[in-house]
Amino acid sequence: MGSVIVGTGIAVPPHRVTNADLSAIMDTSDDWIRRRTGVGSRHVAEPGIGPSDLGAAALQAALADAGIEPGEVDLLVTATMTPDQFAPGIGAVVQAKAGLGPVAAFDLRQQCSGFLYGLDLADAMLRSGRARTAAVVGAEVHSGYMPFGTGFDVLRGLRAEPTEADRAAATASRAWSVLFGDGAGAAVLRAGDPATDALSPAERTGVVASRLFSDGTEFELIQVRGLGFRHQPYVDAEQLAAGLHLPEMNGAELFRRASIAMPAAVRAVLDDVGLSIADLDLVVCHQANERIVDVVRSSLGIDAEVAPTNIERYGNTTAATVAILFHELRLSGRVPSGALVCFVAFGAGSHWGALLYRQP
Ligand code: UT7
Repeated sequence: MGSVIVGTGIAVPPHRVTNADLSAIMDTSDDWIRRRTGVGSRHVAEPGIGPSDLGAAALQAALADAGIEPGEVDLLVTATMTPDQFAPGIGAVVQAKAGLGPVAAFDLRQQCSGFLYGLDLADAMLRSGRARTAAVVGAEVHSGYMPFGTGFDVLRGLRAEPTEADRAAATASRAWSVLFGDGAGAAVLRAGDPATDALSPAERTGVVASRLFSDGTEFELIQVRGLGFRHQPYVDAEQLAAGLHLPEMNGAELFRRASIAMPAAVRAVLDDVGLSIADLDLVVCHQANERIVDVVRSSLGIDAEVAPTNIERYGNTTAATVAILFHELRLSGRVPSGALVCFVAFGAGSHWGALLYRQP
């Protein structure tokens, strides 16, 4: 009785920032960003808009798509690495903003794998009968990380150039700041038909199987070291001066790990149920870098038809990437009845995994 995705929705802030726009505030170029990452533009939230706003909007769109009233949802799972504020998490805030009842609302911190972990958790709760209608939301506002200063005024058309100091700070961040974008995606799930349990994995619908992994020995690959409680006080001027509130990323090593771990996770989950790569109609891959998806494709022997990308328009929206991509594929008719979809992600923690889903 694998859980069935009955609705999806997305929300992205209206302001689109192109690579050319970024070139005006730091030393970078459209050519470098496109060639090295595949990103063409990303959406940037206005100050005051948090992931709970985007997440609630995406969830409301998914509920409308499913034709389900907010009051029918009895489980909410949210995932973000950029919460509205340090504590509490966005789970309850999304619950309130989307008009859900006082239901259980989880906060996941699995970064790029957050939506994948959320799908797995929602499926387990639905299968066990602990919930009847579950919503999973991945939402990020990465713009708060960006050390652009007056560069933001340039992006918003309020001044012609950033200060020299802000240009230098933005340039120092370019290896990671050009990658990320703001946005949210949501899915609404319902328990599948128990009669389908008797079917073979090749015939089962809804969530067919899932494999999740974590390896904390590599947590330093991408991290934000500051603002943590091993430090007393947990935030101080020294940390800010040292830039410990900003992401630090070992890009080359992350690239290597993601390129190996994602294809391995796809093979593992297929092996678990005796299916093969040839059975897959779609691979909905985390959108961190077009070149990583290229490696996943060649490792699995699949093409861009099977493993499409939308990173060109959104950049890396972390917990939202696979939700936004799956929504767009559904809307464009790429998930017909019977289609076997594999969601796969890798991100900070490290957390990664793959989940097989067959559209009823
Ligand atoms: O979801 C998890 C989050 N992150 C990831 O998965 C990231 C995985 N890693 C990557 O995507 C890639 O490693 C990056 C896109 C981050 C970097 O690409 P790369 O091809 O590994 O470039 P690099 O860091 O080796 O830098 C090459 C050159 C350097 O210049 P020099 O030292 O060769 O003169 C950089 O300073 O490119 C320079 N560079 C840039 N130039 C223009 C780095 N960022 C930029 C930029 N614009 N934005």
